[in-house]
Amino acid sequence: MSDEWIDLCAVDDIPEGAGLQIPLADRPPLAVFRVGEDIHVTDDTCTHGEASLCEGEVEDDIVECPFHQGAFHIPTGEVAGAPCTIPLRVYPCQTRDGRVYACVAVTADSVNG
Ligand code: FES
Repeated sequence: MSDEWIDLCAVDDIPEGAGLQIPLADRPPLAVFRVGEDIHVTDDTCTHGEASLCEGEVEDDIVECPFHQGAFHIPTGEVAGAPCTIPLRVYPCQTRDGRVYACVAVTADSVNG
């Protein structure tokens, strides 16, 4: 698969204090978060169960899962609270003309590492 950038949403659509779920036709949904001035794109589904992290609470750079209150560091996807043990997948993203684009073919980790 090529590293294809897809148009997810308008920057203005991202709520404060929560994620914006982006359903996709061919893969599980993504979540778009705003952390300060920065935008991050992650998987929406918790790595501990079938919860949507967009239904969880965001405080600073941490999202808390609505099911069992596990938590993730949004910019890196690292686990920030039990019972989660598996990091959340984070994707490269960029904004252009007020829109958010993500490259879902690779993770931010694989780009950086
Ligand atoms: Fe997310 Fe259990 S499903 S912490």
